[in-house]
Order: sequence, then structure tokens, then C-alpha cells
Amino acid sequence: MKIDASLAAVVTGGASGLGLATVKALRAGGAAVAIFDLNEETGNKVAAETGAIFCQCDVLSDESVDQAFAKARAAQGQERALVCCAGGGNAIPTARRDKATGEIRIFPSDQFEWVLRLNTVGTFRCITRSAAGMMTLEPIDAERGVLVNTASAAASEGQMGQAAYSAAKAAIVGMTLTIARDLSREGIRVMTIQPGVFLTPAFSRAPPQMLQALNAMVPFPQRMGHAEEYASLALEIIRNGYLNGETIRLDGAIRMQPR
Ligand SMILES: NC(=O)c1ccc[n+]([C@@H]2O[C@H](COP(=O)([O-])OP(=O)(O)OC[C@H]3O[C@@H](n4cnc5c(N)ncnc54)[C@H](O)[C@@H]3O)[C@@H](O)[C@H]2O)c1
Repeated sequence: MKIDASLAAVVTGGASGLGLATVKALRAGGAAVAIFDLNEETGNKVAAETGAIFCQCDVLSDESVDQAFAKARAAQGQERALVCCAGGGNAIPTARRDKATGEIRIFPSDQFEWVLRLNTVGTFRCITRSAAGMMTLEPIDAERGVLVNTASAAASEGQMGQAAYSAAKAAIVGMTLTIARDLSREGIRVMTIQPGVFLTPAFSRAPPQMLQALNAMVPFPQRMGHAEEYASLALEIIRNGYLNGETIRLDGAIRMQPR
């Protein structure tokens, strides 16, 4: 699929980090872009800076996502590309013993469910709506659209405390081929990017020693990824019509250690 002024795209989580870099790269290619994000303040700011439109959106809600798609399509037409970056996690051991008191605590079910709802269901909610919209379009070179999801290295090797995040991201990897099969007759491709560790605002509160340790964990290049490197792959997935139903690791060969 060509990335030029004829392309309308939606990027969830587009106000920050990997999503924002993707918004900038798509805009640099001339595409019209709608940013779907929970954060109204940064969303409006980066939309003004990049020439995208901002659609305030909570991927946890059907109603909110429907409203955001309606706003985006009214402004820039039906999207042919959706990049899902909205997500996040928590770090809670499955069960642990408090060192001081000896009290045993468990991972609260509601916090486990929240991570699945945010990452897996939130991504799927946007995919279903985007695919339905793409199905109303005439194909270009047999293709109607492309969907790009974001998993994590944690889908394969989650660290301690990441049970919910690993499960949520592994589910995104797991559903990629199935959705590609579901949408194959409609000429819609689905791919997932599985990033390693990327220096984004998600790490803004990380102490320097932690960032140093993360850099050192990457075999080569020995540093955290740049959001622009994620964006570059997202755009190649949009361009390359033979990529479908697969997950690509983007991680400098990192394999996450237990902690
Ligand atoms: N940074 C990394 O090292 C890394 C590694 C692997 C995977 N990922 C994944 O990449 C994606 C982007 O991460 P990032 O590092 O750019 O994070 P980030 O915190 O910089 O950006 C995430 C964006 O998602 C938005 N968001 C959060 N909840 C939302 C909701 N309910 N509805 C709509 N928008 C919502 C936030 O407002 C924010 O703008 C996430 O899915 C994350 O799990 C990141």
C-alpha cells in the first residue's frame, strides 16, 4: 500500500512513544493521520505539531472507540491503515510473601483483567471497527487495508511480575494469524510488531541505572530501541503487500531475563 496523500491512517496511542513516532513518519510520507489517545492534552498538542487530527478515545470503551472512528472518518475519510499502539501493563507478582510481615498477597484479578482489556480487547475492538470500515472500500491492487498491532518481547519471555502483560501481549501474537485468515477474503492484512525495549515516555520515571541495565541487555546494537525504528517497521508493513499473518520481533536480539 502506498504511503502518500491518498492514504488515511489511524494510530491508537498516537500521542506518545511508538505511536507518536508512527504518526510523524506517516505524516512525513504525506498521509492523513488521526491520533486516537486517552490523553487529551498531549493528543491535542502533538496533533497541532504534526498536522494530524486528534480524536480523544479510550480503547477500553466501545462507545468511545466508535465516536473516535466517526470523527476521524468525517475529517479524513475511511482509513486504510490502522496501527494499534495503545497499551500498557503493571508489575505484580503472581503470589508473594511480604518480607517484613510475612503476609502472603496475590495478584488481584481485577488488575490482571485490566491489562488484558487494555491491550488485547482494546486492540481487537479497534481492529473489528477498522476492518468493518475498510470492507466498504474499493480494493487498490486487490488490497483494502492493513492492520498493525503491537505486542512485546514479554509475549515470549515475560519478566517477574509481568503475568498479565505477558498474557495480554501473547494473545495479540496468537490472534494475528487468525484475524489475517478471517479478513483474507476482504483483502485486509494483519501484522504484529513485537518490540524489545524502546526508550519512550513509558520509561520517563526509570532511574538511570535501570536504563543502563536495559541498554546492556541488548546484544546488538547495545542500546534501547528508538521509536523511529518501530515507526520505520510499521510503515514497511503498510507498504509491503506480502507481509501478512505474522509477528516480527524488533529487539536487537534481546531475550528478556527473569528480572
Ligand atoms: N516502550 C517499550 O519498550 C515497549 C516494549 C514493548 C511493547 N511496547 C508496547 O508499545 C505500545 C506503546 O508503548 P510506548 O512505550 O510508546 O508507551 P507510551 O506510554 O509512550 O504511549 C502509550 C500511549 O497510549 C495511550 N493510552 C494508554 N491507555 C489508553 C487507552 N485506554 N485508550 C487510548 N489510549 C491509551 C497513552 O495515553 C499514551 O499516549 C504499548 O502497547 C506497549 O505495551 C512498548
